[in-house]
Amino acid sequence: MNKIAIAIDGPAGAGKSTISKLIAEKMGIEYIDTGAMYRAITLKLLNRGVDIKDIQSVKDIVDETKVELINGRVYLDGVDVSEEIRMPYVSSKVSDVAAISCVRERLVYLQREMAKKSSVIMDGRDIGTNVLKDAQVKIFLTASVEERAKRRFVEMKNKGIDISFEEICNDIRNRDTIDSNREINPLRKAEDAILVDTTGKTIQEVVDEIISIIREGANL
Ligand code: DC
Repeated sequence: MNKIAIAIDGPAGAGKSTISKLIAEKMGIEYIDTGAMYRAITLKLLNRGVDIKDIQSVKDIVDETKVELINGRVYLDGVDVSEEIRMPYVSSKVSDVAAISCVRERLVYLQREMAKKSSVIMDGRDIGTNVLKDAQVKIFLTASVEERAKRRFVEMKNKGIDISFEEICNDIRNRDTIDSNREINPLRKAEDAILVDTTGKTIQEVVDEIISIIREGANL
């Protein structure tokens, strides 16, 4: 198989990471969760107590930070932070951090380097429109706000995290607004992306639908 790049974009809770992980396993390619990279940087800024309006301090931290994705785990300066980055206190700040240009520049650079090395399925907000503009297959995955909030609620409960359905709904709406309206590379469907609405569909149905889009789009 020639090197392939698959871009999966969409709003919070549309199922991007679950679906992308399954497709990566099935196709034997790398899965790159770019949201996890923005979350890791956010965690570091929060831990350091940095005021995110202080752009020079943010830049200094970002430049000295190592974010790695290894075997489905997320490492921040060598420490596994896979669980911590999913905590509500990180989720509620990550969109503000992801709107800062020096943060995006650094992470987009790292994401492109990863895609140069191997075949990837990369999920995020700006993959089809910016990071991997030349991806052979682009998918824009979405679902209603209620369905997305319901999925996140179940996920949080299963992890024993105490958060109400209302709080999750508000967080998702708030992030959708910031992610879609920021100046730099906002959440948008690329013109050549295929829209897949996951509302009311099972994970398996969505995986099958996307695999057949990939087979067609990449001539596999
Ligand atoms: O996919 P996620 O919910 O884990 O992403 C967390 C945040 O990171 C999301 O609210 C917006 C930001 N993000 C981004 O701006 N660009 C990406 N490529 C991926 C995520």
